Amino acid sequence: MLAPIEGKVEFDQVSFGYVPGQTILDRVSLCAQPGQMVALVGPTGAGKSTLINLILRFYDVTGGAVKIDGIDVRQVTQASLRQQIGIVLQDNILFGGTVAENIAFGQPDASQAEIEAAAQVANVHEFIVTLPQGYATVLGEQGASLSQGQRQLMGIARAVLVNPRILILDEATSSLDTQTERWVQDAIATLLKNRTSFVIAHRLSTVTQADQVLVIQAGQIAERGTHDQLINQDGIYAELYGLQLAAKG
Ligand SMILES: Nc1ncnc2c1ncn2[C@@H]1O[C@H](COP(=O)(O)OP(=O)(O)OP(=O)(O)O)[C@@H](O)[C@H]1O
Ligand SMILES: [Mg+2]
Repeated sequence: MLAPIEGKVEFDQVSFGYVPGQTILDRVSLCAQPGQMVALVGPTGAGKSTLINLILRFYDVTGGAVKIDGIDVRQVTQASLRQQIGIVLQDNILFGGTVAENIAFGQPDASQAEIEAAAQVANVHEFIVTLPQGYATVLGEQGASLSQGQRQLMGIARAVLVNPRILILDEATSSLDTQTERWVQDAIATLLKNRTSFVIAHRLSTVTQADQVLVIQAGQIAERGTHDQLINQDGIYAELYGLQLAAKG
């Protein structure tokens, strides 16, 4: 079991490969203080998703250690990690249940009032009440289907309800319509407040708010700093991401 945490996350010389002898991450060290936001950027295949997978023990390190509040995550169960670490993926998987059940995924005993409050924070309440049966509307193959933006907001509502100290967010790459994009951005900003967060960032607006930006390249941290520091450094980040992200907004 993992006792209630403050949310400090450290990688101490972490190495990892999916198969023996392979090196996907090579002696990565980082430290996120409680409440800090860490943005991960870097080319496809660099190891960003692999890095966050290690926090939740989807895989275990092959060298070094991942520590939460100083405790090696290998000393605690995956179940107890998942109770305190929220994860919002690009395409949140919704199951064939009601909207309310889907939001309560990580907190099955939540009350209707708590579910609606979470949906409000996630900017998805207004949409839900337009569905034929509101929160009782069944989703999935036989039921209502949601757009990608709506699925993201549902994922955010789930995380709001769990209220974790640590949050992992894989930002969606695909473009949403302007209104949905604004709702998602606002909801993400609210969600990240006062939590330690790791965000695989595709939006400039997210990266500029981060306390630390880590540029992952070929399994190592090639550059680190704030957005402004990395722009001034005029290295990989400035070249590869500054312009590209700026163009996307
Ligand atoms: N389950 C897996 N088994 C074996 N190799 C994997 C697995 N997942 C990822 N890899 C490999 O690990 C490397 C890093 O992948 P990872 O998914 O961490 O990259 P990423 O930075 O998240 O890329 P993207 O921006 O495309 O999401 C890649 O070479 C990838 O092929
Ligand atoms: Mg990835």
